[in-house]
Formats: sequence, structure tokens, C-alpha cells
Amino acid sequence: MTEEQKNGIILPRHIGVIMDGNGRWAKSRGLERSEGNRAGANTFRTICNYAADLGIEYMTFYAFSTENWKRPAKEVRAIMKIFRDYLDEANERESENEQRGLRFHLIGEKKGLPSDVVERMETLEKGTADKKVMTVNLAINYGGRDEILHSFKELAKQVKDGKLNPKDITQEDISANLFTAGQPDPDLIIRPSGEYRLSNFMIWQAAYSEFWYSDVMWPDFTPDDLDKAILDFCHRNRRFGGI
Ligand code: IPE
Ligand code: IPE
Ligand code: MG
Repeated sequence: MTEEQKNGIILPRHIGVIMDGNGRWAKSRGLERSEGNRAGANTFRTICNYAADLGIEYMTFYAFSTENWKRPAKEVRAIMKIFRDYLDEANERESENEQRGLRFHLIGEKKGLPSDVVERMETLEKGTADKKVMTVNLAINYGGRDEILHSFKELAKQVKDGKLNPKDITQEDISANLFTAGQPDPDLIIRPSGEYRLSNFMIWQAAYSEFWYSDVMWPDFTPDDLDKAILDFCHRNRRFGGI
């Protein structure tokens, strides 16, 4: 994006990305599906750094859904290995993340994930907790319904303990017990790979998000594509139910 373009717009504060199309990208090249996921991880790194340089405050990347466990064990194993490798590398490149001011945050259920992936994730979260430029939510073992259920269980506990009266429960209480507590809702949700659905991504937070779709497979997604999505977003008229 040119400085001139940047000066003329108000950037979205929070962008969600459904990183889809890795398998098809690999298949079209005669490669294993896992090669597509590895290429997708590289694209994630590029787009994440580019978004931070642009000045986006929050990025959420959907990497593995609560439904993705349905896939063959071999593919799930290969994906977990990619997470391990990525997290090791991110922990090793601490100074680079520090320079960029990236703060990493896992959104998703830790339960169910291999413990060594969770440990690496927690190391990255702790190591970047005081960074301020951009928050990067990694949605791993994430499902929007599961997240809402998690919030309801927290609130039910408070009701049971006599700390909360059911008639006083607000939408803010529900938001405050999601994995994204304290963050603004996504302004823009991007889905590449020619699919037009949310697939259980941020279903509570997406109530008034703008959607942007592209036929590009995630491994081929470039900073130019992110620019296109942002520039398109800037021309949308968000009414939030008003006129
Ligand atoms: C997204 O790419 C990555 C994960 C869901 C883990 P896919 O693996 O879904 O790729 P396609 O949709 O089959 O091409
Ligand atoms: C959504 O992609 C989940 C992620 C990108 C992590 P899927 O490939 O799992 O979605 P469906 O099955 O096509 O809806
Ligand atoms: Mg897919």
C-alpha cells in the first residue's frame, strides 16, 4: 500500500483471516496436502508481519478448527508438526517479534491439543505479553460455538456461586468470557480459496463484520491481496442497523 493510499483511509482495527485452500494448492501442484499447510504457514508469517507494518492492531488467523479433527490422523499429525516448528521458530526469533511488537495469543481450547504444542504456545504468549504494536490471535482447536459454550459455562459458574443474577447477564458479559475478551470485534473477515462461509469462525464476534472473499488459495495470498481487501473495506458503508 502506498503512503498516499494509507493516508486517505481509516484502517480496520481487527482483521480475521480464514487461512483456507492449502490442500487444494498442494494438489494442483502434485504435492502432499501437508506441503500446502507448510506453504500456508509461510504465508501466515508474511501477512502477519505486513499487517503489523501497516499498523493493524489485531489480527486473528484461523489455523485449525474444532471440526478439523475429523481429518485423517496422518494429516492432523502433519499439521501439529507444522505448529511445533512454527512455534519453535517464533520463540527462537524472539528479537524479531520484539522489534515488531507482536503479542501472540492462543484462542481455542488447549484441552485436546498435544501438550508440547500448548507448552510452546504458552512460552510464546508469555514471551510477548508486554508487546503492544499488534495482537496476533492464533485460532488453533478453535470453534465459535465451542467458544460461546465456554463463555456460558463461566457465567453459569458465577450464577451457581451466587455472584451473578441470570436476569443481569448482558451481551458484554458473554463477550468478556470469550477467548477474545477485551478485544474489538473483527471489522473485516477475509476468506480466500473461493469458499463463502464462516466455518464456525468468530460467529459471535462477526455480527457486524464486513466479509471479503477471494479465489486465491491461501499459500498464494500476498500483501497486495491484503491491501485489496483493506481498500475495499474502506469503501463499505457500515450501518450497524442504523440508516
Ligand atoms: C486450511 O486449508 C488449513 C486447515 C484447515 C488446517 P485446507 O487444508 O482446508 O485446504 P483445502 O480447503 O482442503 O484446500
Ligand atoms: C476452515 O477451513 C478452518 C480453517 C481454515 C482453519 P475448513 O477447510 O476446515 O472449512 P470447511 O470444512 O471447508 O468449511
Ligand atoms: Mg479447507
